[in-house]
Amino acid sequence: MADEVRARAHANIALSKYWGKRETGENVPAAPSLSLALDRLFTETFVRRSDAATDSFRLNGSPANERDAARLGGYLELWRGAGLLRGCFEVDSVNHFPTASGLASSSSGFAALATALAELAEDSLDRDRISRLARRGSASAARSVPGGLAELPAGDDPAAVEVLPPGKIPWGMVVAAVDAPAKETGSSEGMHLSRETSPLYSAWIETCGEDFQRIREACLRGDLETAGSVAEANMYAMHAVMLATRPALLYWTETSLTLLREVRSWRRDGLGVWATVDAGPHVAFLTERAELETVAERASGVPGVVEALPCLPAGGAEVLG
Ligand code: PMV
Repeated sequence: MADEVRARAHANIALSKYWGKRETGENVPAAPSLSLALDRLFTETFVRRSDAATDSFRLNGSPANERDAARLGGYLELWRGAGLLRGCFEVDSVNHFPTASGLASSSSGFAALATALAELAEDSLDRDRISRLARRGSASAARSVPGGLAELPAGDDPAAVEVLPPGKIPWGMVVAAVDAPAKETGSSEGMHLSRETSPLYSAWIETCGEDFQRIREACLRGDLETAGSVAEANMYAMHAVMLATRPALLYWTETSLTLLREVRSWRRDGLGVWATVDAGPHVAFLTERAELETVAERASGVPGVVEALPCLPAGGAEVLG
């Protein structure tokens, strides 16, 4: 059994989103989701067995703050509680994201960590099991384990599976990082509030199943217009649920809104490009691979955009040695 290991996983952005969890306490999404892993956004995580009495965590070159250390410690405890790990560990995780703008890193972070821990585990774990375990850290991380175009169903204890490998996906995404302060409400707390208080929540969950099927089928037949337009509509429905949450979850900034207006005018110019936004201010644009540079140029010209990064589809999480 290895004593130390390094693993890498790419972040993903959902075309069909999930927002809401079942009450099982096991991080089970209430809706299916479908996402694209992106080559230029990834996390590398190094884990080593330690003789110390506690775990230690470094994030992006500094000791983790109390909140992050508690979340990560709880996550290792889950593995120990399941009999998969023994003893304590040093974890050192670095996000290779080109800006310090707070782009969502939990998908790549927990996928890389689960992949590394699996190498140190008492049992041999297959990809499905690693995806399930990554989901316990952050549901979107389950999708970064298979990578490519990946789906995470909404069943009991679901694992994400690959729908298309990166080489079969003719599209990419431009991620426009928007200048903004750290968000006030994290996704788990936000989802809980939406389920408890948003009058639109149950309609949203019903819509998710249909959107997911339509986007999935459109991806399989290479129909960018349907995939993009349903993905954009799905994103607006999710943000409507967020806005109707009490108190409102408003993740956009003025720049996010400008980008959402701009993408409509780019389409009027004949560009095949659609937008999506997670629980934050950054905007990702789905387009043909050949249009990535054009879209990146247009997005980076919008005031408030820190960087617009053209990304190609990436593969699954891997052990580096
Ligand atoms: O699983 P989390 O905590 O990373 O939440 C992801 C939530 C969204 O990014 C808004 C949607 C999604 O499906 O990725």
